[in-house]
Amino acid sequence: LGSRSRTAGAELLGELSGIRRQVQLESRLRKFIRDGTLASETPLPSSRALASTLRVSRGLVVEAYTQLRAEGYIVTRHGAGTYVGVMRGGSPVAAPTSRPKTRLRFDFFPGRPDLASFPRELWLRALRNVLRGSAASALSYPDPRGTPELRGALAQYLNRARGLAVDPELIVIVAGATQGLALFGRALVRSGFGDIAVENPGLPSHRSVLAAVGLGVRGVTVDSDGLDVGELAGIGAVLCTPAHQWPTGVALSPARRAALIAWATGERLIVEDDYDAEFRYDRAPLAALQGLAPDHVVYVGSVSKTLAPGLRLGWLVLPPRWAAVATPELLNDFGSSTLGQLALAQLIETSAYDRHLRKARERNRSRHDALISAVAEHLPGARVSGISAGLHTLVRLPFACDPDSLTAAAASREVGVYPLSSFLIERPNATDALVLGYASLPESAIVEGIKRIGEALAAL
Ligand SMILES: Cc1ncc(COP(=O)(O)O)c(C=O)c1O
Repeated sequence: LGSRSRTAGAELLGELSGIRRQVQLESRLRKFIRDGTLASETPLPSSRALASTLRVSRGLVVEAYTQLRAEGYIVTRHGAGTYVGVMRGGSPVAAPTSRPKTRLRFDFFPGRPDLASFPRELWLRALRNVLRGSAASALSYPDPRGTPELRGALAQYLNRARGLAVDPELIVIVAGATQGLALFGRALVRSGFGDIAVENPGLPSHRSVLAAVGLGVRGVTVDSDGLDVGELAGIGAVLCTPAHQWPTGVALSPARRAALIAWATGERLIVEDDYDAEFRYDRAPLAALQGLAPDHVVYVGSVSKTLAPGLRLGWLVLPPRWAAVATPELLNDFGSSTLGQLALAQLIETSAYDRHLRKARERNRSRHDALISAVAEHLPGARVSGISAGLHTLVRLPFACDPDSLTAAAASREVGVYPLSSFLIERPNATDALVLGYASLPESAIVEGIKRIGEALAAL
């Protein structure tokens, strides 16, 4: 190991012996990466070379690399081998989906709402009311779980809009879903949970956040019915997106929903990331799982898709048993900024939030429909998969291609595309699908962008 040579220095790892040699290899590599012995970007030996040096099977090294990749400690680059990931303070830095550097006039970056349509006037009015109407004490340290105003408003909203069974006492306001996962992840670790399952493909930043708090992250297959519940054997917690799987866009099928609820007995926990459920275009959305199993679901939501990610406002709804268990982790930073919470509570209570959502839903639906027609017209052989919902969709391509070449061919035409392969734990060298966000692009740009993707594909 080491930057001089990909094979030198493997003796650093020492002998692997006895049972659980894969776990030994994983934990030694993890330790050396965390303590900086193996610095960020250090090239690692190929699985074949390391297996031969350590006199273990190649499969064992491949499995260990796969696990560390899922946790963000190592990364693989097409054709360039395996490297230590980017670390900060001994933890993997959450890796947002990488964007090409060229200026992209037609950027299908997935999951971003239309920030140009942020309801500035509504927000300003709500903030003005809050500042005019609140007592000086409202500016003191808040209840670290969040203001009673927002927790009360959310309890009603989540019940009405998503079918949640909620007591405001079980709601914790956080600075976005990501912070909520980090905070709750720490509580899981302290309570003895070693691993958490995540959907594969899924969001790389969620995987790194969970690994950074010390959880082992185990990928679970996703197919056209959503995550494969059969793969959860032996695991105590799972993070999932049942309403609209990120990024494949499928809904968890009724049979799988039932199986997941049936799986969640005893101490088992479902962490339900309900990130874009407000946006369903073909029917009313299915209620959240939380309403069916409130004792086993940690519900996670935020305004990142409905208003703007820059507000950094989100919430956790905890199972009653976890409210006390999770208290130290959730309370040890004195909570989140009060003014934004009070403004959001106003928007919800005055129904301005509902009116804003109706408008956003209409706009997103038109953009979704524009994308579907543009794909039918300009990408022959391609197929849109997943349900009619959210801010992004998965487009299956007529053939598999090298993801980097496709991204580059699109970028040279000022189009940003996001191959499905970049959301998989083990990135394949070929991709046959693109994750395309449409909510922040006007319809004319969507049509032009899809045309140009067609040209990029033809040029490959
Ligand atoms: C799957 C998924 N969950 C949750 C979020 C929201 O995260 P946050 O609330 O931290 O902005 C996103 C945003 O990109 C997402 O893609």
